[in-house]
Amino acid sequence: MTNPGFSTKLITWYHQNKRDLPWRNIKDPYKIWLSEIILQQTRVAQGLPYYEKFIENYPTVNDLANADEKEVLRLWQGLGYYSRARSLHTTARIIAKDFEGVFPNTYHELLKLKGIGPYTAAAIASFAFDENVAVVDGNVFRILARIFGIETDISSHQAKKVFGELANRLISENDPSTHNQAMMEFGATYCTPHNPECMFCTFHFDCEANASGRQAILPIKSKKIKVKQRFFYYFLIEQNEKFLLHQRKKSDIWAGLFDFYLEERSTDLQSVSSQVGSNIETILEETKDNFLKETIKKSTIKSISENHKHILTHQRIEAKFIHLKLNENIDLPDSFEFYSRTEIEDLPKPILIEKYLKKTLK
Ligand code: ADE
Repeated sequence: MTNPGFSTKLITWYHQNKRDLPWRNIKDPYKIWLSEIILQQTRVAQGLPYYEKFIENYPTVNDLANADEKEVLRLWQGLGYYSRARSLHTTARIIAKDFEGVFPNTYHELLKLKGIGPYTAAAIASFAFDENVAVVDGNVFRILARIFGIETDISSHQAKKVFGELANRLISENDPSTHNQAMMEFGATYCTPHNPECMFCTFHFDCEANASGRQAILPIKSKKIKVKQRFFYYFLIEQNEKFLLHQRKKSDIWAGLFDFYLEERSTDLQSVSSQVGSNIETILEETKDNFLKETIKKSTIKSISENHKHILTHQRIEAKFIHLKLNENIDLPDSFEFYSRTEIEDLPKPILIEKYLKKTLK
Protein backbone atom coordinates (compact mmCIF):
# COMPACT_ATOMS: atom_id res chain seq x y z
CA MET A 1 0.00 0.00 0.00
CA THR A 2 1.20 3.50 -0.71
CA ASN A 3 -0.02 6.96 0.03
CA PRO A 4 -2.43 8.61 -0.57
CA GLY A 5 -4.30 5.30 -0.82
CA PHE A 6 -3.54 4.31 2.76
CA SER A 7 -4.53 7.60 4.35
CA THR A 8 -7.66 8.05 2.23
CA LYS A 9 -8.90 4.59 3.16
CA LEU A 10 -8.05 5.09 6.81
CA ILE A 11 -9.78 8.48 7.05
CA THR A 12 -12.88 7.21 5.20
CA TRP A 13 -13.04 4.28 7.63
CA TYR A 14 -12.66 6.71 10.56
CA HIS A 15 -15.53 8.94 9.49
CA GLN A 16 -17.79 5.92 9.29
CA ASN A 17 -16.69 4.19 12.48
CA LYS A 18 -15.31 6.67 14.99
CA ARG A 19 -16.59 6.91 18.51
CA ASP A 20 -17.81 10.25 19.68
CA LEU A 21 -15.28 11.21 22.36
CA PRO A 22 -14.97 14.51 24.22
CA TRP A 23 -11.38 15.16 23.13
CA ARG A 24 -12.23 14.79 19.46
CA ASN A 25 -12.88 17.86 17.30
CA ILE A 26 -11.29 20.16 19.79
CA LYS A 27 -8.20 22.27 19.32
CA ASP A 28 -7.40 23.00 22.97
CA PRO A 29 -3.85 21.63 23.46
CA TYR A 30 -4.39 21.33 27.23
CA LYS A 31 -7.39 19.01 26.84
CA ILE A 32 -5.64 17.01 24.13
CA TRP A 33 -2.55 16.65 26.29
CA LEU A 34 -4.59 15.53 29.30
CA SER A 35 -6.58 13.00 27.28
CA GLU A 36 -3.47 11.49 25.71
CA ILE A 37 -1.63 11.17 29.02
CA ILE A 38 -4.68 9.43 30.51
CA LEU A 39 -5.04 7.18 27.46
CA GLN A 40 -1.43 6.08 27.79
CA GLN A 41 -2.48 4.58 31.11
CA THR A 42 -5.74 2.94 30.21
CA ARG A 43 -8.36 2.28 27.57
CA VAL A 44 -10.97 4.81 26.50
CA ALA A 45 -13.84 3.38 28.58
CA GLN A 46 -11.80 3.46 31.79
CA GLY A 47 -10.06 6.74 30.97
CA LEU A 48 -13.16 8.75 30.16
CA PRO A 49 -14.36 9.34 33.75
CA TYR A 50 -10.83 10.40 34.76
CA TYR A 51 -10.68 12.86 31.88
CA GLU A 52 -14.05 14.32 32.83
CA LYS A 53 -13.08 14.61 36.50
CA PHE A 54 -9.86 16.42 35.62
CA ILE A 55 -11.56 18.84 33.22
CA GLU A 56 -14.30 19.54 35.74
CA ASN A 57 -11.79 20.29 38.50
CA TYR A 58 -9.16 21.96 36.30
CA PRO A 59 -10.73 23.42 33.16
CA THR A 60 -7.50 25.14 32.11
CA VAL A 61 -3.79 24.49 32.41
CA ASN A 62 -3.59 27.38 34.90
CA ASP A 63 -6.16 25.66 37.14
CA LEU A 64 -4.11 22.48 37.09
CA ALA A 65 -0.95 24.48 37.81
CA ASN A 66 -2.59 26.04 40.87
CA ALA A 67 -3.83 22.71 42.24
CA ASP A 68 -2.40 20.97 45.26
CA GLU A 69 -0.30 17.92 44.35
CA LYS A 70 -2.19 15.73 46.81
CA GLU A 71 -5.45 16.61 45.11
CA VAL A 72 -4.03 15.84 41.66
CA LEU A 73 -2.80 12.44 42.86
CA ARG A 74 -6.17 11.75 44.48
CA LEU A 75 -7.93 12.38 41.15
CA TRP A 76 -5.37 10.20 39.37
CA GLN A 77 -5.81 7.41 41.94
CA GLY A 78 -6.32 4.06 40.21
CA LEU A 79 -4.62 4.98 36.93
CA GLY A 80 -1.17 3.86 38.11
CA TYR A 81 2.25 5.29 37.13
CA TYR A 82 1.85 8.16 39.55
CA SER A 83 5.03 9.80 38.30
CA ARG A 84 3.02 10.66 35.16
CA ALA A 85 0.49 12.56 37.26
CA ARG A 86 3.29 14.40 39.03
CA SER A 87 5.02 15.38 35.80
CA LEU A 88 1.64 16.44 34.35
CA HIS A 89 1.34 18.78 37.32
CA THR A 90 4.95 20.02 37.07
CA THR A 91 4.57 20.69 33.35
CA ALA A 92 1.29 22.54 33.91
CA ARG A 93 3.18 24.79 36.35
CA ILE A 94 5.93 25.42 33.83
CA ILE A 95 3.40 26.27 31.10
CA ALA A 96 1.50 28.57 33.47
CA LYS A 97 4.64 30.33 34.70
CA ASP A 98 7.16 30.34 31.86
CA PHE A 99 4.70 30.34 28.93
CA GLU A 100 1.93 32.44 30.53
CA GLY A 101 -0.51 29.54 30.17
CA VAL A 102 -0.01 29.24 26.41
CA PHE A 103 1.16 25.86 25.09
CA PRO A 104 4.19 25.77 22.77
CA ASN A 105 2.75 25.12 19.30
CA THR A 106 5.33 22.95 17.54
CA TYR A 107 6.40 19.33 17.88
CA HIS A 108 10.00 20.30 18.71
CA GLU A 109 9.06 22.87 21.35
CA LEU A 110 6.55 20.50 22.95
CA LEU A 111 9.21 17.77 23.17
CA LYS A 112 11.27 19.99 25.47
CA LEU A 113 8.62 19.77 28.19
CA LYS A 114 8.90 17.27 31.03
CA GLY A 115 6.71 14.21 30.53
CA ILE A 116 6.01 15.02 26.88
CA GLY A 117 7.72 12.41 24.71
CA PRO A 118 7.58 11.94 20.91
CA TYR A 119 4.12 10.32 20.98
CA THR A 120 2.45 13.02 23.09
CA ALA A 121 4.24 15.86 21.27
CA ALA A 122 3.06 14.46 17.91
CA ALA A 123 -0.51 14.05 19.20
CA ILE A 124 -0.70 17.64 20.51
CA ALA A 125 1.11 19.15 17.51
CA SER A 126 -1.12 17.40 14.99
CA PHE A 127 -4.49 17.50 16.81
CA ALA A 128 -4.21 21.08 18.09
CA PHE A 129 -1.92 22.74 15.54
CA ASP A 130 -2.30 20.55 12.41
CA GLU A 131 1.41 19.88 12.24
CA ASN A 132 2.37 17.15 9.83
CA VAL A 133 3.91 14.69 12.26
CA ALA A 134 2.84 11.07 12.78
CA VAL A 135 2.00 9.57 16.16
CA VAL A 136 3.95 6.38 16.77
CA ASP A 137 2.96 4.12 19.65
CA GLY A 138 2.08 0.45 20.21
CA ASN A 139 -1.11 0.84 18.14
CA VAL A 140 0.84 2.20 15.20
CA PHE A 141 3.53 -0.50 15.45
CA ARG A 142 0.80 -3.13 15.35
CA ILE A 143 -1.17 -1.65 12.45
CA LEU A 144 1.89 -1.07 10.26
CA ALA A 145 3.57 -4.38 11.12
CA ARG A 146 0.42 -6.23 10.07
CA ILE A 147 -0.64 -4.30 6.97
CA PHE A 148 2.91 -4.06 5.59
CA GLY A 149 4.13 -7.40 6.94
CA ILE A 150 7.05 -5.77 8.79
CA GLU A 151 9.04 -8.21 10.89
CA THR A 152 11.21 -5.69 12.74
CA ASP A 153 11.14 -6.51 16.45
CA ILE A 154 9.14 -3.71 18.09
CA SER A 155 11.29 -3.94 21.23
CA SER A 156 14.48 -3.34 19.20
CA HIS A 157 16.32 -0.03 18.76
CA GLN A 158 15.56 0.12 15.04
CA ALA A 159 11.79 -0.15 15.56
CA LYS A 160 11.20 3.55 16.27
CA LYS A 161 13.10 4.49 13.11
CA VAL A 162 11.56 1.86 10.81
CA PHE A 163 7.96 2.40 11.94
CA GLY A 164 8.43 6.15 12.47
CA GLU A 165 9.68 6.72 8.92
CA LEU A 166 6.87 4.68 7.41
CA ALA A 167 4.23 6.37 9.59
CA ASN A 168 5.50 9.77 8.48
CA ARG A 169 5.49 8.74 4.82
CA LEU A 170 1.87 7.60 5.11
CA ILE A 171 0.41 10.59 6.94
CA SER A 172 -2.09 12.78 5.13
CA GLU A 173 -0.50 16.13 4.33
CA ASN A 174 -3.92 17.77 4.12
CA ASP A 175 -5.29 16.42 7.34
CA PRO A 176 -2.61 15.04 9.70
CA SER A 177 -4.93 15.55 12.68
CA THR A 178 -7.70 13.27 11.41
CA HIS A 179 -5.13 10.81 10.07
CA ASN A 180 -3.52 10.43 13.51
CA GLN A 181 -6.87 10.21 15.31
CA ALA A 182 -7.90 7.57 12.80
CA MET A 183 -4.73 5.53 13.41
CA MET A 184 -5.40 5.55 17.16
CA GLU A 185 -9.05 4.68 16.70
CA PHE A 186 -8.28 1.92 14.23
CA GLY A 187 -5.73 0.38 16.60
CA ALA A 188 -8.12 0.65 19.53
CA THR A 189 -11.20 -0.80 17.86
CA TYR A 190 -10.29 -2.86 14.75
CA CYS A 191 -6.62 -3.77 14.57
CA THR A 192 -6.61 -4.86 18.22
CA PRO A 193 -3.87 -7.04 19.78
CA HIS A 194 -6.21 -10.03 20.07
CA ASN A 195 -9.08 -11.01 17.77
CA PRO A 196 -8.79 -8.14 15.27
CA GLU A 197 -11.80 -7.42 13.05
CA CYS A 198 -10.11 -8.62 9.84
CA MET A 199 -13.31 -9.83 8.24
CA PHE A 200 -14.79 -6.33 8.04
CA CYS A 201 -11.54 -4.41 7.84
CA THR A 202 -11.09 -1.72 5.22
CA PHE A 203 -7.54 -3.06 4.65
CA HIS A 204 -8.76 -6.65 4.31
CA PHE A 205 -7.30 -7.08 0.81
CA ASP A 206 -4.22 -4.91 1.44
CA CYS A 207 -3.04 -6.46 4.68
CA GLU A 208 -0.08 -8.82 4.51
CA ALA A 209 -0.81 -10.34 7.91
CA ASN A 210 -4.38 -11.10 6.85
CA ALA A 211 -3.23 -12.61 3.54
CA SER A 212 -0.78 -14.93 5.28
CA GLY A 213 -2.71 -15.52 8.52
CA ARG A 214 0.01 -13.85 10.63
CA GLN A 215 -2.20 -11.53 12.71
CA ALA A 216 -1.23 -13.31 15.92
CA ILE A 217 2.49 -13.22 15.07
CA LEU A 218 2.78 -9.58 13.98
CA PRO A 219 4.02 -7.36 15.45
CA ILE A 220 7.05 -9.28 16.64
CA LYS A 221 8.10 -8.52 20.18
CA SER A 222 10.97 -10.52 21.61
CA LYS A 223 11.59 -8.90 24.96
CA LYS A 224 9.22 -10.16 27.60
CA ILE A 225 8.53 -7.97 30.59
CA LYS A 226 10.37 -9.21 33.68
CA VAL A 227 7.99 -9.40 36.62
CA LYS A 228 9.32 -9.02 40.13
CA GLN A 229 7.54 -10.71 43.05
CA ARG A 230 7.33 -8.65 46.25
CA PHE A 231 5.87 -9.34 49.70
CA PHE A 232 4.51 -6.34 51.58
CA TYR A 233 3.56 -6.36 55.26
CA TYR A 234 1.53 -3.29 56.08
CA PHE A 235 1.18 -2.36 59.74
CA LEU A 236 -1.94 -0.40 60.53
CA ILE A 237 -0.75 1.15 63.77
CA GLU A 238 -3.72 2.58 65.62
CA GLN A 239 -3.90 4.98 68.52
CA ASN A 240 -7.04 6.89 69.61
CA GLU A 241 -8.85 5.77 66.44
CA LYS A 242 -6.14 7.26 64.25
CA PHE A 243 -3.71 5.41 62.03
CA LEU A 244 -0.09 6.00 61.17
CA LEU A 245 0.63 6.89 57.53
CA HIS A 246 3.26 8.72 55.52
CA GLN A 247 3.77 9.96 51.99
CA ARG A 248 5.88 7.58 49.87
CA LYS A 249 9.25 8.75 48.62
CA LYS A 250 10.32 9.10 45.01
CA SER A 251 12.52 5.99 44.75
CA ASP A 252 9.85 3.30 44.42
CA ILE A 253 6.36 2.63 43.06
CA TRP A 254 3.47 4.84 44.24
CA ALA A 255 5.70 7.85 44.89
CA GLY A 256 3.68 10.66 46.42
CA LEU A 257 0.86 8.41 47.58
CA PHE A 258 0.17 7.72 51.25
CA ASP A 259 0.56 4.34 52.87
CA PHE A 260 0.91 2.60 56.23
CA TYR A 261 4.15 1.49 57.86
CA LEU A 262 5.58 -1.08 55.49
CA GLU A 263 7.96 -3.93 56.06
CA GLU A 264 9.01 -5.66 52.89
CA ARG A 265 10.35 -9.20 53.22
CA SER A 266 11.72 -11.53 50.59
CA THR A 267 9.37 -14.37 51.50
CA ASP A 268 5.70 -14.96 52.02
CA LEU A 269 5.23 -15.23 55.78
CA GLN A 270 2.12 -17.34 55.31
CA SER A 271 4.09 -20.13 53.63
CA VAL A 272 6.98 -19.78 56.11
CA SER A 273 4.62 -20.07 59.08
CA SER A 274 2.97 -23.20 57.78
CA GLN A 275 6.32 -24.81 56.91
CA VAL A 276 8.05 -24.34 60.23
CA GLY A 277 4.96 -24.90 62.29
CA SER A 278 5.25 -21.58 64.11
CA ASN A 279 2.59 -18.96 63.92
CA ILE A 280 2.68 -15.75 61.99
CA GLU A 281 2.62 -13.55 65.10
CA THR A 282 5.94 -15.02 66.20
CA ILE A 283 7.48 -14.47 62.81
CA LEU A 284 6.25 -10.87 62.76
CA GLU A 285 7.89 -10.30 66.14
CA GLU A 286 11.18 -11.59 64.76
CA THR A 287 11.50 -8.56 62.53
CA LYS A 288 14.87 -6.84 62.05
CA ASP A 289 13.12 -3.47 61.97
CA ASN A 290 13.71 -1.84 65.37
CA PHE A 291 10.74 0.47 65.18
CA LEU A 292 8.44 -2.47 64.47
CA LYS A 293 10.01 -4.56 67.22
CA GLU A 294 9.25 -1.84 69.76
CA THR A 295 5.80 -1.16 68.35
CA ILE A 296 4.73 -4.80 68.36
CA LYS A 297 5.87 -5.07 72.01
CA LYS A 298 3.77 -2.07 72.94
CA SER A 299 0.60 -3.12 71.14
CA THR A 300 -2.04 -5.77 70.73
CA ILE A 301 -2.34 -7.51 67.37
CA LYS A 302 -6.00 -6.98 66.44
CA SER A 303 -5.99 -8.78 63.12
CA ILE A 304 -3.81 -10.21 60.36
CA SER A 305 -5.39 -10.25 56.93
CA GLU A 306 -5.22 -12.86 54.23
CA ASN A 307 -2.81 -12.13 51.37
CA HIS A 308 -4.05 -9.45 48.98
CA LYS A 309 -2.67 -9.74 45.46
CA HIS A 310 -1.94 -6.68 43.39
CA ILE A 311 -0.55 -6.84 39.87
CA LEU A 312 1.41 -4.05 38.20
CA THR A 313 3.12 -4.12 34.83
CA HIS A 314 6.50 -5.08 36.26
CA GLN A 315 5.62 -6.26 39.74
CA ARG A 316 3.40 -8.76 41.49
CA ILE A 317 2.68 -7.81 45.04
CA GLU A 318 1.31 -10.00 47.82
CA ALA A 319 0.32 -7.88 50.77
CA LYS A 320 -0.78 -8.64 54.28
CA PHE A 321 -2.33 -6.04 56.57
CA ILE A 322 -1.55 -6.31 60.27
CA HIS A 323 -3.71 -4.20 62.53
CA LEU A 324 -1.93 -3.19 65.75
CA LYS A 325 -3.56 -1.25 68.55
CA LEU A 326 -1.04 0.67 70.61
CA ASN A 327 -1.13 0.27 74.39
CA GLU A 328 1.65 2.80 75.00
CA ASN A 329 3.12 5.80 73.24
CA ILE A 330 5.86 5.29 70.68
CA ASP A 331 8.41 7.57 69.00
CA LEU A 332 7.13 8.18 65.50
CA PRO A 333 9.46 7.52 62.60
CA ASP A 334 10.31 10.49 60.34
CA SER A 335 7.45 11.85 58.25
CA PHE A 336 4.80 9.56 59.78
CA GLU A 337 1.67 11.06 61.29
CA PHE A 338 -1.60 9.81 62.73
CA TYR A 339 -4.69 10.33 60.53
CA SER A 340 -8.37 9.77 61.31
CA ARG A 341 -10.45 7.59 59.00
CA THR A 342 -12.07 10.64 57.39
CA GLU A 343 -8.65 12.19 56.79
CA ILE A 344 -7.43 8.90 55.30
CA GLU A 345 -10.36 8.90 52.88
CA ASP A 346 -9.15 12.17 51.37
CA LEU A 347 -5.51 11.11 50.97
CA PRO A 348 -4.25 9.75 47.64
CA LYS A 349 -3.52 6.07 48.26
CA PRO A 350 -2.47 2.98 46.30
CA ILE A 351 -5.53 1.04 45.10
CA LEU A 352 -4.28 -1.96 47.10
CA ILE A 353 -4.79 0.05 50.29
CA GLU A 354 -8.02 1.68 49.16
CA LYS A 355 -9.55 -1.75 48.49
CA TYR A 356 -8.43 -3.15 51.84
CA LEU A 357 -9.83 -0.15 53.73
CA LYS A 358 -13.14 -0.32 51.87
CA LYS A 359 -13.53 -3.92 52.94
CA THR A 360 -12.47 -3.65 56.56
CA LEU A 361 -12.36 -0.27 58.21
CA LYS A 362 -15.95 0.80 57.62
N1 ADE B 1 -5.56 5.92 22.54
C1 ADE B 1 -4.67 6.90 22.73
N2 ADE B 1 -5.05 8.04 22.13
C2 ADE B 1 -6.25 7.78 21.56
C3 ADE B 1 -7.18 8.55 20.83
N3 ADE B 1 -6.89 9.82 20.58
N4 ADE B 1 -8.29 7.94 20.41
C4 ADE B 1 -8.52 6.64 20.69
N5 ADE B 1 -7.71 5.87 21.37
C5 ADE B 1 -6.58 6.42 21.83
